[in-house]
Amino acid sequence: MTERTLTPVLTRRWCSPKSWTLDTYTQLEGYTALRTALAAHPDQLIQLLKDSGLRGRGGAGFPTGMKWGFIPQAKPGEQPTGPAAKPTYLVVNADEGEPGTCKDVPLMMADPHSLIEGCIITSYAIRAHQCFIYVRGEMLHCIRRVRSAVNEAYAAGYLGRNILGSGFDLDIVVHAGAGAYEAGEETALLNSLEGRRAEPRLKPPFPATSGLYSAPTVVNNVETICSVSYIVNGGSDWFRAMGTEKSPGPKIYSISGHVRQPGQYEAPMGITLRELLDMAGGMKGGPLKFWTPGGSSTPLLTAQHQDIPLDFEGAAEAGSMLGTTAIMVFNNTVSVPWAVMKWTEFYKHESCGKCTPCREGTYWLTQILQRMVRREGTPADVETMLDVCDNILGRSFCALGDGAASPIMSGIKYFRQEFLDLCTEQPEYGRPAQQGKWAQKTTIAEAAR
Ligand SMILES: Cc1cc2nc3c(=O)[nH]c(=O)nc-3n(C[C@H](O)[C@H](O)[C@H](O)COP(=O)(O)O)c2cc1C
Ligand code: SF4
Repeated sequence: MTERTLTPVLTRRWCSPKSWTLDTYTQLEGYTALRTALAAHPDQLIQLLKDSGLRGRGGAGFPTGMKWGFIPQAKPGEQPTGPAAKPTYLVVNADEGEPGTCKDVPLMMADPHSLIEGCIITSYAIRAHQCFIYVRGEMLHCIRRVRSAVNEAYAAGYLGRNILGSGFDLDIVVHAGAGAYEAGEETALLNSLEGRRAEPRLKPPFPATSGLYSAPTVVNNVETICSVSYIVNGGSDWFRAMGTEKSPGPKIYSISGHVRQPGQYEAPMGITLRELLDMAGGMKGGPLKFWTPGGSSTPLLTAQHQDIPLDFEGAAEAGSMLGTTAIMVFNNTVSVPWAVMKWTEFYKHESCGKCTPCREGTYWLTQILQRMVRREGTPADVETMLDVCDNILGRSFCALGDGAASPIMSGIKYFRQEFLDLCTEQPEYGRPAQQGKWAQKTTIAEAAR
């Protein structure tokens, strides 16, 4: 790992002994930002976040300070009316369901108090007195870790009534999620938190005016909220000194797949895949064939894209998206149609069924891809898939549909011949279509090797 490219900010406590305890946290500057924040006016904090340029780390990259600024506030001396008269909520999105994404769980496991400190500062800034941390239900170990940290914070006076004598009150509830990928979509998450099915809501109204229980709500990702205390301590200039002009700050890049040292690499925004792969020990088992910059919902890229800057702009310019910076790399032993089929099966399974393009489209795309991988497809299937994707992309109720179309469209864009090769020959299922070109993988374990 080179000094030039790694910037441990959010990950800097991870290797400390018992990093998850309040003792370790407070020894390593923990809760110092909270004292500074409580001494400031909430609007100053919102302005600080705007100045820092922090963009949401949950996938869409929406500016965080701007999101906080959308929460309606009564003017000084005026009686609050409309949404401003309702309670405000902070909801932390810790659902982390995007395939390949694995940064929020380690953040919560290794440093849960940085999330709690970020929640208190954010709540103070947006004038919320109730915060919910919605953790993916399957991650029981993580739920226990965060709950135990919340209990420690209550006992130490960082949560509850009159926090640190400031007069500010805040309660945090750690909520076990409903175990669906769609529950990570912010409005579906709010439905789930209210006890309903995790189906997305029509926007507008946006959560900032009508969110949880129809009250003003900020929904932010774990990594976003964890960044807050560092910005309060370091200032906006310090934060902007890392990363690029439009995508400032450090970012946790999660590297998985055919790489020698998979894991979390915190580096400035704008780093390239080539640099990250250098730090991660290089490819394993063969040269790079294709990769995702931000999870399976982001259009896949190829070896020719290794030098694009991995920030919001760079990924978009290359025809993909930064997403959650879940970088999955695949070597030349992996069949693109096979990988695309596995992702499409996932989207079909996770489609909530609310809208027709996604519910029907993901079903039929799975059927076609499975048929192709069985060598029973025809060249016309490739065009049919593109047509179905065209009817999903931009026509679905939420972004899950777009995400489902992404791997197929980009897979065909860069590896069309591989799909066609499956149609020209009809060998027995599981046997390589053309020896030496790529080996057909029949199980996930086989492909991961
Ligand atoms: C299908 C789907 C799943 C999502 N899952 C997550 C998730 O697990 N965690 C997350 O933070 N954002 C997820 N998002 C994005 C959220 O809707 C939302 O943009 C995010 O929580 C906003 O936080 P941020 O501004 O801090 O990025 C998902 C979006 C979609 C469409
Ligand atoms: S795109 Fe439609 S069916 Fe798919 S998850 Fe979103 S709302 Fe549900």
